[in-house]
Amino acid sequence: MTLSNTPTIALIGPGAIGTTVAAALHEAGRTPTICGRSALNQLTLHVDGEPIVVPGPVLTDPRTIDTPFDLIFVAVKTTQIEAAAPWLAALCGPDSVICALQNGVEQKANLAPLVSGGTVLPAVVWFPAQREADASVRLRGQPRITLPDNAGAERVVAALEGTRCSVDVAKDFTTLAWRKLLQNAVAGLMVLTGRRAGMYARTDITTLALAYARECLAVARAEGAALNDAAPQEIIDGFHRSPPDLGTSILADRHAGRPLEWDCRNGVIQRYGRIHGVPTPISDLVVPLLAAASDGPG
Ligand SMILES: NC(=O)c1ccc[n+]([C@@H]2O[C@H](COP(=O)([O-])OP(=O)(O)OC[C@H]3O[C@@H](n4cnc5c(N)ncnc54)[C@H](OP(=O)(O)O)[C@@H]3O)[C@@H](O)[C@H]2O)c1
Repeated sequence: MTLSNTPTIALIGPGAIGTTVAAALHEAGRTPTICGRSALNQLTLHVDGEPIVVPGPVLTDPRTIDTPFDLIFVAVKTTQIEAAAPWLAALCGPDSVICALQNGVEQKANLAPLVSGGTVLPAVVWFPAQREADASVRLRGQPRITLPDNAGAERVVAALEGTRCSVDVAKDFTTLAWRKLLQNAVAGLMVLTGRRAGMYARTDITTLALAYARECLAVARAEGAALNDAAPQEIIDGFHRSPPDLGTSILADRHAGRPLEWDCRNGVIQRYGRIHGVPTPISDLVVPLLAAASDGPG
């Protein structure tokens, strides 16, 4: 892939994850063009109580873009991809690399039809960040993403080199993506209780979460993930170690009455389970409840 010396970088979706990555780029002198839904003059990321301000403005009209960008980070929710399609059409060209900072294992399938022949690169986003009431973002972990060892990865690595957001390139991306999906699927249980990570201290929730993680593991393996038998327990141990007030973006969406990413985080287990003939009795209970909480009716 050829590229000018100074790649042009845009970011669609300046929310919790988007603001974190925009701030990392800005600190390194690579401030991205910020494309959003809500007009803002600047973005603010709080790291250990200290603000990092990323100058805007947040653009809200894709018609103001007249040339494709080299690198586009996509950090809208998966439920917002369709609405963000005009941004993708304006920003992407055949030589663009589109790095999807989104949960799930279906980023490429979701975005490829919308990026004018550009190269879609999924990423696993490992860090938690949360939006505050004033639209600023609080970073709650060390920013880190993992990319597959595919064409285009070098462009993302170069853009984030020397920033506070570290990047790994994984040979076996499938396994890592499914591992994160297991974690996300189990975190979805927080929506059904309206509680944060502290709830996993309960013995009954631990038992349920472990059984659900094992169900997800069977589907992940059917999809080619090389996860071992210890993965479900390791994931539950991670919740036990988390701060009790740590939430998850799907819980934040539930509290705000927004659509939930239930399909890419939980429905996907049930869908792939059906394809592979893997029984998913816990998903069969959890998924309709999450879907109804998200989409109604009622
Ligand atoms: N937050 C986390 O800790 C975390 C961790 C790992 C992975 N993830 C994943 O990362 C992805 C992003 O999550 P998030 O928590 O950062 O979401 P978020 O805070 O809700 O941010 C989404 C951003 O996209 C903007 N947006 C919505 N529709 C748009 C459109 N049509 N065009 C342009 N921008 C639009 C939103 O604008 P408004 O300001 O108008 O809402 C908001 O700025 C999700 O897939 C999530 O599952 C999140």
